[in-house]
Amino acid sequence: MCGIIGYLGSHQAVPVILDGLKRLEYRGYDSAGLAVASPGRIHVLRAAGKLSNLEERAWETTLHGTLGVGHTRWATHGAPTEENAHPQMDASETVAVVHNGILENYARLRHELLDAGIPLSSDTDTELIAQLLGRVAGPLAERVLRVLPRLEGQYAVVAVSRDEPDTLVAFRNGPPLVLGVGEGEFLVASDVTALVARTRKVIFLENGDVAVMTREGIRIVDATGTPVEREVEELDWDPGRAEKGGYRHFMLKEIHEQPDAIRNTVLAYLDAERTGVALDGLGFEPERLEGVRRIHLVACGTSWHACLVGKFFVERLAGLPVEVDYASEYRYRSPLVGSDTLVVGVTQSGETADTLAAMEMAAEAGALLGTICNVRGSSAWRAATARLLTQAGPEIGVASTKAFTTQLVALLLLGLGLRSSRGLADREDRELVAALQRLPLAVEQTLAVDQELYGRGVELITAGDDSLFLGRGILYPIALEGALKLKEISYLHAEGYPAGEMKHGPIALVQEGFPVVALATAIPTRDKLLGNLMEVRSRGASLIAVAEAGATSVTSLVDLVLPVPDVPILLQPVVTAVPLQLLAYHVAVELGLDVDQPRNLAKSVTVE
Ligand code: G6P
Repeated sequence: MCGIIGYLGSHQAVPVILDGLKRLEYRGYDSAGLAVASPGRIHVLRAAGKLSNLEERAWETTLHGTLGVGHTRWATHGAPTEENAHPQMDASETVAVVHNGILENYARLRHELLDAGIPLSSDTDTELIAQLLGRVAGPLAERVLRVLPRLEGQYAVVAVSRDEPDTLVAFRNGPPLVLGVGEGEFLVASDVTALVARTRKVIFLENGDVAVMTREGIRIVDATGTPVEREVEELDWDPGRAEKGGYRHFMLKEIHEQPDAIRNTVLAYLDAERTGVALDGLGFEPERLEGVRRIHLVACGTSWHACLVGKFFVERLAGLPVEVDYASEYRYRSPLVGSDTLVVGVTQSGETADTLAAMEMAAEAGALLGTICNVRGSSAWRAATARLLTQAGPEIGVASTKAFTTQLVALLLLGLGLRSSRGLADREDRELVAALQRLPLAVEQTLAVDQELYGRGVELITAGDDSLFLGRGILYPIALEGALKLKEISYLHAEGYPAGEMKHGPIALVQEGFPVVALATAIPTRDKLLGNLMEVRSRGASLIAVAEAGATSVTSLVDLVLPVPDVPILLQPVVTAVPLQLLAYHVAVELGLDVDQPRNLAKSVTVE
């Protein structure tokens, strides 16, 4: 959710922090702030609204100091005002903290502090951490260890002290924190994206870790103060991939990166001859899978839609029953999960709190725990035994695009890998693997379509306040995803529905000019889908279809075809997702909305 950055080095902290915050703004953007510690004083600057408001203030004020913290917020406790922005300080302004997460004993701590006569200046739980730190004596690291037992809930915190302008202390329980080890400097951030411009050497903190950074080095201890060893890892992310590279928006850039992202994901898991899938050394080997009789896929948001497609892939290819759950529901429905279950958490960020909690529960129940994840070293990555990395690279646009299509590819590879580990692979697999290698080209062709078609699509969609996205079978989840993309960035209501179910309710919405978007590529039930489209057409709906160019049964029926190449059925979810991403993008641009940072959303939801 919120983005955190901390810096200790020889450069001025403010530009480093602002640059880090820019890279993190996708995590939350309702207010932002920074603090710079210099001997005897902590200077705090905060502003409600977008990061640009804070930047303006920062350029108007000269803040000197080589130690500082910054924060971009997605509000939980307290409205998104300047008072509630981070950093928060204690009453005597000796410490400043930035925080991501939620304190569950907020009400109790707040009453306790108010009863003790401490004036509180915000509605945040974060201020309570600062106030508690301000009330104990000693060096900052010791104060943190004394306050830790008082904190219940989820937190990733970075703190600085007025009296120690050479010390940065970071601690976590739940939301992630990663340290950056640079040339003569240390950084800490909620997310590696903020670090890669300065260093690729990172240390992922574990829950319960307290990291103390000074100019001499980094010391990491547990809650009792006992030193713990954490490995320095080298990231392979190219910092340029987290920049817009000439595109107007990250979302558009990421849509266009899909051919490469898909290619890299496919190639990472093919065998040496490139005729089959090799999941060797990833935890999905036959000996690990022996005894697995069923698979559960758990995820949130767009990743959940990928899982719905994944069910088709894995059931069809591996012949194992698959259940798909929203991670936030999974834990609370007492699922039948045990040592015969492979539970796979599918997550772009690897930090979504609900997904992590569902995975943890499954592991406790004895399941083999897997993940399909886009961030090596993330919490999901480290929790899982069996792991597939989607090779999408950093995804910054809040509306997920390349992460989604690479998740689809990874789920297909998982299906093929499980099939082969169960001795079921045959000639058809080789054909599918060959088609998978041509998939990036098919996506390139989809992207090369005349953009004027999207202009017409925008007219049809914006003619109404609502729209219906219809699909059947393996394309029904793509209808859900298309509707979600539109809702997320254009704020227009859209509903994804299985086309055959539409007549049991949603058809009541249809009237003259009501936009209906249909996934109408060549699936076995296409004729039935076309029948469903006739039902809405005869009631005045305007129709947009995603279909292969030249499918006359479709073109003769609809107002607009967004063309895609003809690909095998199992690859259709990938190619058909792309036009719906572009459609949502162009609608949002036409409406003048903030495509990359839609209101109320956050890229990575680290609270339950
Ligand atoms: C947020 C994002 C979505 C994403 C979902 C799950 O809601 O806005 O785009 O699909 O979280 O995120 P994950 O990182 O677990 O895939």
